[in-house]
Amino acid sequence: MKWIVANLKETKLFDDTIKFIKIVKKETKKTSNQVVVCPSYPFLASVCEIAKKSKIMVGAQDISQFEEGAYTGEVSAKQVCSVGAKAVILGHSERRNLFLEDNKTIAKKIKLAQNEGMICMVCLSIDGKKGYEEVLRQELRELFRSVSNKNDNIIVVWEPASAIGTGNSLSPEELEPIMKTIKTEAEKVLKYKTKVMYGGSVNLKNVDGILALDVVDGVLIGGATKNPHDFAKICMR
Ligand code: PGA
Repeated sequence: MKWIVANLKETKLFDDTIKFIKIVKKETKKTSNQVVVCPSYPFLASVCEIAKKSKIMVGAQDISQFEEGAYTGEVSAKQVCSVGAKAVILGHSERRNLFLEDNKTIAKKIKLAQNEGMICMVCLSIDGKKGYEEVLRQELRELFRSVSNKNDNIIVVWEPASAIGTGNSLSPEELEPIMKTIKTEAEKVLKYKTKVMYGGSVNLKNVDGILALDVVDGVLIGGATKNPHDFAKICMR
């Protein structure tokens, strides 16, 4: 069983989002994978409603670093959970690069999401290039220092910035040793068997090679969610 996660980003209007979840629900009935769909905030409630009575989990693309209060424009962990979201993507490279989120902020969000029992898909910022191991260890400590190992629902996600939205996914051979290192180091900090996912230009053509790696527990998919039938096909792999 692998995790197949759709990150819809800011790409679909309401009607297309509804069409997406309906098609994915219909075409993935027999999958043995865990499918997660992460739409934009305003569509979460409707998507959760449609995903009910299916095995699809619905996730948010982010949450506020604040629990509740006067934070105009922000949406809390509790709020997304109140409409049925069960998972959240945190620390995505677009949040880090465009909205200047750092590990300290992401760590606060992890804590709030954990308080609600959400699955946290936490993205790393490492580039996988020479000497990345030290940066990785430091980053894992910053992100997970205050996480209780009683909540074993963190999935660590690696998406090299050079691979996101570029069509240049890493080959399974390039990916395997880095994913192994991430898993080993994450387990040292979290103290439980940690799942790791890969993301960055995963599509119908390259997904089989990536999912064939034992160390890869799942994939986070952006561009290949453009066509719901293609995404559903990936879920059926
Ligand atoms: P991509 O996006 O599949 O378009 O590279 C992945 C992501 O940003 O999560």
